[in-house]
Amino acid sequence: MGQTIRLNDRSTVVESKMTNENLFHIINNRRSIRKFLDKEIPKELIEKILAAGFRAPFAYQSCSIVYTQDKEKISKLKKMGIYPSTKLFMVFFIDFHRLEKLLHKRGYKYDFDDSLFLWLAIQDATLVCENVILAAEAVGLGSVLLGGAPFLYNEIKTVFNTPPKVFPVVGLCLGWPDPEHIMTVRPRFPLKYSAFEDTYKPFTDEMIQECMKAMDEGYLTQGYYIKLGAKIPLKNKEDKIGVDKYSWSEHISRKISQGSWYKETLPTILRKEGFNLE
Ligand SMILES: Cc1cc2nc3c(=O)[nH]c(=O)nc-3n(C[C@H](O)[C@H](O)[C@H](O)COP(=O)(O)O)c2cc1C
Repeated sequence: MGQTIRLNDRSTVVESKMTNENLFHIINNRRSIRKFLDKEIPKELIEKILAAGFRAPFAYQSCSIVYTQDKEKISKLKKMGIYPSTKLFMVFFIDFHRLEKLLHKRGYKYDFDDSLFLWLAIQDATLVCENVILAAEAVGLGSVLLGGAPFLYNEIKTVFNTPPKVFPVVGLCLGWPDPEHIMTVRPRFPLKYSAFEDTYKPFTDEMIQECMKAMDEGYLTQGYYIKLGAKIPLKNKEDKIGVDKYSWSEHISRKISQGSWYKETLPTILRKEGFNLE
């Protein structure tokens, strides 16, 4: 059933084709997709998704996207971990270049706190990104994010021809989901341990145990890491956990307990890119 919403300016009446339930259905059924069909995505659909992306709230409109369906460009960025069947690849950028141009046009000179600018700009980009993900879902496309973008800024710069101060936040692989490879929706921490009414509750052993149980049982039942083949090796310890017992909490623990994955830290990279982090 459609819904009619009257906006404040009284003259505008928006006929919404989507019920609230549809939106919740899309959100609650989204899962990362890593295998796509070899089927083109029409340009109008891409533009529709992108336009929905930029309807996100913004602090500075400091997000830009560069997207490509060009196989050669996509393959030049494969170090980012792009899934081979990806049909459409996007990078979400913090775009300081455009704002600086705007500032100059109005006769101003930038004088601000770069760390605050970055903090808000990352949020601008993230909100656009989530809108794009959900809009893509709404038209039947699947996607998966790639977090390594900031560390491959040089490669991205070369392939997408981005000027200084246009800095990558995250990558997104998109395509029509391959029905043979769609996995179940992944679990989350129980809501009562993620959202607290009135006061935060520091975690007791029992609480953390419950969180781990919800995640680990969910992932193990799905055989998630077996299907994904994504077991992180231990650097200085014998690995006594077989892939059948390799759970989400083990995965995340291994991820953030064995040093950085990258040679450079983010502040070093951002300084190189011209951001002043003091
Ligand atoms: C910032 C960010 C970076 C991510 N980077 C990767 C990545 O590099 N490779 C990958 O396969 N998935 C990546 N993901 C996807 C997560 O693994 C996925 O969202 C998570 O396991 C939850 O699964 P779901 O999206 O199916 O609910 C990333 C997700 C986020 C939010």
